[in-house]
Amino acid sequence: MARFLITSALPYINGVKHLGNLAGSMLPSDVHARFRRMQGHEVLFICATDEHGTPAELAAAEAGVDVRAYCDEQHDVQKRAGEGFRLSFDWFGRSSNPPNHRLTQHFCEVLEKNGLIEERVSRQVYSIDDGRFLPDRYVEGTCPVCAFERARGDQCDNCGSLLDPVDLKNPRSKISGSSNLEVRDTAHLFLKQGQMQDRIRAWVDAATEWPSLARSIAYKWLDEGLIDRAITRDLSWGVRVTKDGAPRPGFEEKVFYVWFDAPVEYIGATVEWAEATGNDWRRWWRTDEGAGDVTYVQVMGKDNVAFHTVSFPVTIMGSGEPWKLVDRLKAFNWVTWYGGKFSTSEKRGIFMDQALEIAPSDVWRWHLMANAPESSDAAFTLEQFQAGVNADLANVFGNFVNRITRFCAAKFDATAPGEGSETELETKLRADVAAKLAAITQHHEDMEFRKAAAETRALWALGNEYLQVAAPWTAIKTDPARAAVGVRMGLNLAALFAVVALPFIPDAATAVLDGLRVAPDKRVWPKAESAAALALVDVGQTIAPPDVLFKKIEDADVAAWSERFGAG
Ligand code: 2FM
Ligand code: ZN
Repeated sequence: MARFLITSALPYINGVKHLGNLAGSMLPSDVHARFRRMQGHEVLFICATDEHGTPAELAAAEAGVDVRAYCDEQHDVQKRAGEGFRLSFDWFGRSSNPPNHRLTQHFCEVLEKNGLIEERVSRQVYSIDDGRFLPDRYVEGTCPVCAFERARGDQCDNCGSLLDPVDLKNPRSKISGSSNLEVRDTAHLFLKQGQMQDRIRAWVDAATEWPSLARSIAYKWLDEGLIDRAITRDLSWGVRVTKDGAPRPGFEEKVFYVWFDAPVEYIGATVEWAEATGNDWRRWWRTDEGAGDVTYVQVMGKDNVAFHTVSFPVTIMGSGEPWKLVDRLKAFNWVTWYGGKFSTSEKRGIFMDQALEIAPSDVWRWHLMANAPESSDAAFTLEQFQAGVNADLANVFGNFVNRITRFCAAKFDATAPGEGSETELETKLRADVAAKLAAITQHHEDMEFRKAAAETRALWALGNEYLQVAAPWTAIKTDPARAAVGVRMGLNLAALFAVVALPFIPDAATAVLDGLRVAPDKRVWPKAESAAALALVDVGQTIAPPDVLFKKIEDADVAAWSERFGAG
């Protein structure tokens, strides 16, 4: 048995997340955590809300509430949405909690002792009318790269360039709209990333297990050359800047940059979990205290990759302390909404809470993973959602389970029959099932979610093909023992189909396994070559056909949702 630490990129606190955020980090990490647990590994699955920085302050100001109260409320909203989607976090923490503050301050202090932090005077946008500096998203203006007129100070949403607020053309304050701005000097702490360039490159060179998207993004940054970057900001909400454990002189009005403290919260949230449950966090994070045998898996959208392959590793390695570094980094492209982007700030697309109002979590989980934006962006449309859910879940999986369990109930007294002997048909089926299981397992291990879903669908399809030929409903008229073989095999196939579906569609799969009375200790990841994979329902076991597993999505539903969400 191995140990897996799995973290999902931390969702910003500024409102419930859209399906694109879900598909690019929280959901795939959950699928992987469920798969690894079923294999019998020890798993710690961590997520948290990312609560600092300008996104939090601006959203709180827009909502007209104090930022702490806003974060308290939004954390609960996101926690509930995650539960609704059955995200099986061992802990869903908060970057504003004390462990993250302590750890962030600790990292800065050790980095400074190691000569990797320098106080420098830097030029920042100051708003005369607002009487304050305007970091990052507090300034909007025209992008110097693509001329998009609503670029944010830290990044252009149109061309993706990372920006510095002083580079924006025609800048204006997000607070007051004022363009009465000037550039003033102010002191900030800089992390000397340039000094770590060679060490980071050597580490990326050795990271042969990362999927190609993550590696190519890391190399792009390394090839451009790592630049020293400011890790403090002129804000009041965030982690306070300290020196030797006391407030750092000259930094009383400043906090750490959100991207400095957010990844540290992966550790912070683990400390929260440990404190709440009486566990030991060090054996997950300190290689000198037991984390040496942990495989650390990070899952995120492509815009987060640079921070995880370069910036956070600079913090970790630069500390000179034995912290666990990521082993496997899975990055995703975007899910698009009718050709455009899902957008939190522009409220475009479907958000997690809305999604659950119109359909159960399983159908979203299935569709988003079967169409995961892995090798390129993936378009989401309600029409494709309808077609995929109806075809795969209702017609293939649901229909198979329904047919075999109802036939067993009607003709075999709802009891798994023991009569009859298997024929060549079953021998071939067993071989086909074993091949599919091997493929599904490999794809899950590789975190190739689309392929894992496609092979799962193909496994289900084998069941329908088998029933088509075995046709117990015909055999029962002339050869009841032959019909019994078909039913026994059919029930076991249904159970196996549900077991392998558990990572993707936990609710429906559990309903099937409950109906088939499959014992909890058999709901483990099957070994492809083992006969146990098709021995989940004992002879003589009574079963209860589950209720309709998946309601078909009708054209009228699609029309109503298109209207509601402004699709097309
Ligand atoms: O892009 C985002 O949504 C960030 N909140 C992700 C942070 S991941 C981690 F480093 F905290
Ligand atoms: Zn731009």
